[in-house]
Amino acid sequence: MDLSEVRESYEERGLDESDLAADPIQQFKKWFAEVGEAGYWEPDAMVVSTITGDGWPSARNVLLKRIDERGFVFYTNFTSDKAVELDLTGRAALTFSWTELRRQVRVVGPAGRLSAEESDRYWATRPRGSRLGAWASDQSAIVPDRAHLERLFAGQEDRWAGAEVTRPDHWGGYLVRPEVVEFWQGRPDRLHDRLRYRLEGGTWVIERRAP
Ligand SMILES: Cc1cc2nc3c(=O)[nH]c(=O)nc-3n(C[C@H](O)[C@H](O)[C@H](O)COP(=O)(O)O)c2cc1C
Repeated sequence: MDLSEVRESYEERGLDESDLAADPIQQFKKWFAEVGEAGYWEPDAMVVSTITGDGWPSARNVLLKRIDERGFVFYTNFTSDKAVELDLTGRAALTFSWTELRRQVRVVGPAGRLSAEESDRYWATRPRGSRLGAWASDQSAIVPDRAHLERLFAGQEDRWAGAEVTRPDHWGGYLVRPEVVEFWQGRPDRLHDRLRYRLEGGTWVIERRAP
């Protein structure tokens, strides 16, 4: 099946309250699996939005590396702008844009660093080149040119020659714990389905919003 056929079937079927899992993580897993099965390119890309110290929005793509009952996990460099902003405010929004399938998921919730042990477990699965890159790049710092980065990378190759590259303290994961999750399914005539889960007193409340 190609993506346009999948899109048409999703548009036709829509998203009804009766289709929804009681918990948005279960519902997300269902959509994520469907998008993956449809052959969608990089379904795990998501926009992470943060808030700067002076109140500006700040957004960029990262890859979703884990979804479990706690929430959404991604990995980054703790020197980066996003990490500084997450450590400052503890707040994040995530946006998944599966636009060719007329689907979007939005998440809002508190965000914090994973434990060193959990970051180590994921680090162990990363290829050597990515590990060296994490050591070489002071993510989000200003650099004079590309040659500078290549020199830093070569320096790390020499430093770790013949050895296991361990995780730097400045690299690890964040967990975003959802408090609001909205599923959007495009439908004909702009009468899209928009169903939002909101955590209220420990219970998920589901509401339909006007498209
Ligand atoms: C599809 C895609 C996936 C990306 N995945 C990651 C990621 O998992 N972690 C990361 O730190 N940066 C990732 N990046 C790079 C970020 O978008 C960004 O350039 C970088 O993290 C620095 O952002 P910051 O200065 O706002 O912190 C990705 C970019 C794209 C386009």
